[in-house]
Amino acid sequence: METTVLKLGGGVVTEKDANRRSARVDVLRRLARELRSAREQGAGRIVLVHGAGPFGHSLVAEHGIADGVASPRQVEGFVATHASMRELDELVLGALRAEGLLAVALPPCACLVQERRAVRDFFVEPIERLLALDARIIPVLYGDMVADRALGASVVSGDVLVAELGRRLRARVLLGTDVPGIFTADPKRDPAARPVPRIDRGNLAAVLESVSPAATVDVTRGMRGKLEAIAASLAGLEVLVFDLGEQGALERALLRRPVAGTEILL
Ligand SMILES: Nc1ncnc2c1ncn2[C@@H]1O[C@H](COP(=O)(O)OP(=O)(O)O)[C@@H](O)[C@H]1O
Ligand SMILES: [Mg+2]
Repeated sequence: METTVLKLGGGVVTEKDANRRSARVDVLRRLARELRSAREQGAGRIVLVHGAGPFGHSLVAEHGIADGVASPRQVEGFVATHASMRELDELVLGALRAEGLLAVALPPCACLVQERRAVRDFFVEPIERLLALDARIIPVLYGDMVADRALGASVVSGDVLVAELGRRLRARVLLGTDVPGIFTADPKRDPAARPVPRIDRGNLAAVLESVSPAATVDVTRGMRGKLEAIAASLAGLEVLVFDLGEQGALERALLRRPVAGTEILL
């Protein structure tokens, strides 16, 4: 049975554009329905990772903890950021469970250690065992602040988590975000932007050039961070970047039906 690692972008599940710390509960409800429907039609195992939006990025920026945690105020910021992400995570878990989905929280700060912002140890055995116990279980992770051997603590983005999980679980990766894939320029700013249907080793460098870090507050470098995370995992990952805002797209993507977006095969 296939395993899919699914990212729900922070820009989709929160009011990120308005930089308001609130979850889009209606969108979460629809996405949970699509997950349940895909599951009923035979979609395999699912591991879910969600982004942070204003629940993470603005707190990291306010407390000046993007480059490490040392002072008492930074430690307070670390705890405040983690606590804020737990709040968002509970809303995501609640939406999933309301549809009868068996969602289990796996806080990254409890199973992962970084060094200079790079993932070092990631204890994925609980995820593997829960999926083997019952394929209906959906482990849920999220962008978080975690212990860092050199910097005290640092941010691990949802995008890095999906790349790491895709590699470690040999899973397909679905990167759901708020635009229909990767474009030749930011489609929200440049009307001449054209979709890039496929990225492989041949055009990776050229596409990376054209992808800018996000315009919103996103300490994990927006679309560029996603592509960098996928490229860094060097794993022959099969990835689809697609628009979660499009009704039905998540369900179709989980069932391997056609969806507008960018396929990445590196
Ligand atoms: N070349 C590009 N192609 C697609 N999106 C881009 C590009 N350059 C910048 N972006 C921006 O990246 C954003 C997605 O990244 P991000 O804001 O981090 O989303 P998420 O919340 O899903 O992590 C899009 O909303 C888009 O405005
Ligand atoms: Mg992002």
